[in-house]
Amino acid sequence: MPKDAWNAIEAHELQELSSLFEKEPDRLSSLCHEVAGLTFDWSKTHLDRALIESFTDFAGESGFASARDKLFAGGIVNVTEERPAEHLAERGSGTPEAVELATSRRMRMRALVDAIEAGAFGDVSAILHIGIGGSVLGPELLGDGLGRSGARLDVRFLSNIDPQAFGDSIEGLDPATTLIVAVSKTFTTAETMANLSAALDWIEAAGVSDPYGRVIAVTAAPQAAMEAGIDESRILQFSEGVGGRYSLWSAVGISAALALGWDSFEELLEGAAEMDRHFRYTEPSANAVLIATFADQLYSRKLRCQSRGTFPYDERLRLLVSYLQQLEMESNGKSVTADGKPVDGPTSPVVWGGVGTDAQHAVFQLLHQGTLIVPVEFLAVAEDETGLPEHHRQLLLNAFAQGAALMRGRKCEDPHRSYAGNRPSATILIDRLDARSLGAILAFYEHRTFANAVLLGINPFDQFGVELGKEIARDLADGTDEGGLDPSTRALIERARI
Ligand code: F6P
Repeated sequence: MPKDAWNAIEAHELQELSSLFEKEPDRLSSLCHEVAGLTFDWSKTHLDRALIESFTDFAGESGFASARDKLFAGGIVNVTEERPAEHLAERGSGTPEAVELATSRRMRMRALVDAIEAGAFGDVSAILHIGIGGSVLGPELLGDGLGRSGARLDVRFLSNIDPQAFGDSIEGLDPATTLIVAVSKTFTTAETMANLSAALDWIEAAGVSDPYGRVIAVTAAPQAAMEAGIDESRILQFSEGVGGRYSLWSAVGISAALALGWDSFEELLEGAAEMDRHFRYTEPSANAVLIATFADQLYSRKLRCQSRGTFPYDERLRLLVSYLQQLEMESNGKSVTADGKPVDGPTSPVVWGGVGTDAQHAVFQLLHQGTLIVPVEFLAVAEDETGLPEHHRQLLLNAFAQGAALMRGRKCEDPHRSYAGNRPSATILIDRLDARSLGAILAFYEHRTFANAVLLGINPFDQFGVELGKEIARDLADGTDEGGLDPSTRALIERARI
C-alpha cells in the first residue's frame, strides 16, 4: 500500500459530522454531485476537505488514473485471468474491435427480440429466464424495477436448484407458449443446467414437439450450449471478458429487453455510458464515484467498519441489495493483492440492507444505538408515480429523517433513550426511476467497486473463492470426495439420507 498519503489519512482527526457543516460552509455543494438525473449526497459522511485531498493523493499513489485509463481502453485489468474487463465495450468504451464486436452482437440480439415480437416463435405469453448469480441478478432487478407497469410479457426468473424454486417459477405458465432464456457464461453451471433440463421436461410433457426449439441460450461458451442441444441460430454470444456480475449490458439482458422493449434497453446502456463519462473525466473532488470510494475506504480501512448498509426507499429497488452483494462481495472479497501478496487491511465490507420503512422497523435499532458503526446509504426516488402522493411523501421524509437522526443523535439523561449520533450516511436521490437512471446507478456501483479495488491493490474481476465449495459439492455428488470428508459433513449427509 502506498504509505505517505495513507499516513496522512490515518493521522487525520475526524470531526463531528454536525460540526463539519459549520466549519465548511460550502460542504453541501462540494459533497453533493448531480449526474444523469441522480443526486449523490455524501455530505453526512466524515469526509472533509483535507481528507478528500489526502485520498486524492492516495489514489494518485495507488496508480488510480492509469488503472482507470486501462479499464476504459480495454487493457488487461483482470490480471489473474489475463484478460480485459469488457463490460464497458457494451457501452461504447474499449478497444475498437471489442466495441465493434459488442455492437454487432447487440444487433443480433435486437434482431432476435424483433423476431420474437413479430411472432417467429409463435404465441409467446411468458419468458422463463434461467441463470444464477450474475446471469440472473441484473435482469431480475431490471425486470422487477421497471416492469411493474406495462411489462410486455410475464417474465419469471429461476436460479436456485431448490425444486420449490422451479415450481414457483412456472406456476400458472403455459408450457406451450413459454420461451426459455437460458443464461450462463460458462454453460456448465450446475444449477442452471439442472433447471434447464427440468424446464425442457416440463415443456415436453405438455406435448410440445421440439422443446429445444423453445430455448434461447445466452453464453460466452457457444460450443457448450450447442453440445447441450441448443441450435446455433438461437445462441447469443457475449465476450469472455464480460464478467457475470458485469454482464447485464450484454445479451444477458435479453429477458429485460423483451419485457420492457428495446428502447428501454438502449436507454439503460445510455444511462450507464453517461456515468462512465462522469467517472472517467471528472476530477476527484467532483467525482461522485470517487467521493463514495473515498468514504468507503475511510470507513472500512481507517475505522474498520465491517459492513455497509444499503436501504432503497422504493419497492422497485428491492432487489438492488442482492445485486450489490454479488457485485461488491464477489469482486472485492479477497485476501491477496493482484500480484498475490497478502493484503494489508480489510477488503470488501459485508454489504447488506433492506427496503424502506420495513427495514426501519426491523434493523434500524442497531444502526442508531448499536455498538457497530455501519455506514448507511439511502436511495429514494423524487418523482411519485404511484398516485398516492402522501404515501410517497411520507416514504421520502422517513428516508431523510433516518439520515438526519443518525447524524444528529440525541443526548439524554436516560442511557436507554440516548442516541450517540455522529453516524454516517449517504443518500442517492433519483429524479425519476427509469431505464436510463437505473443504468447510471448500476454503472456508479460498478465503478465504485473498481475504484475500491484499485485503492486496495486487488483484482475485482476474478472470483476463485467460489470454486472450492462447488468442487466439493460436485465430488460429493459423484461420490469421489468420500476420503477427504470431515465427520460433521459426513454425519449431515447421513442424517439427511441423501
Ligand atoms: O459461482 C459464481 C459464478 O461463477 C458467478 O461469478 C457467476 O455470475 C455465476 O456463478 C453464474 O455463472 P455462469 O454464468 O457461468 O452460469
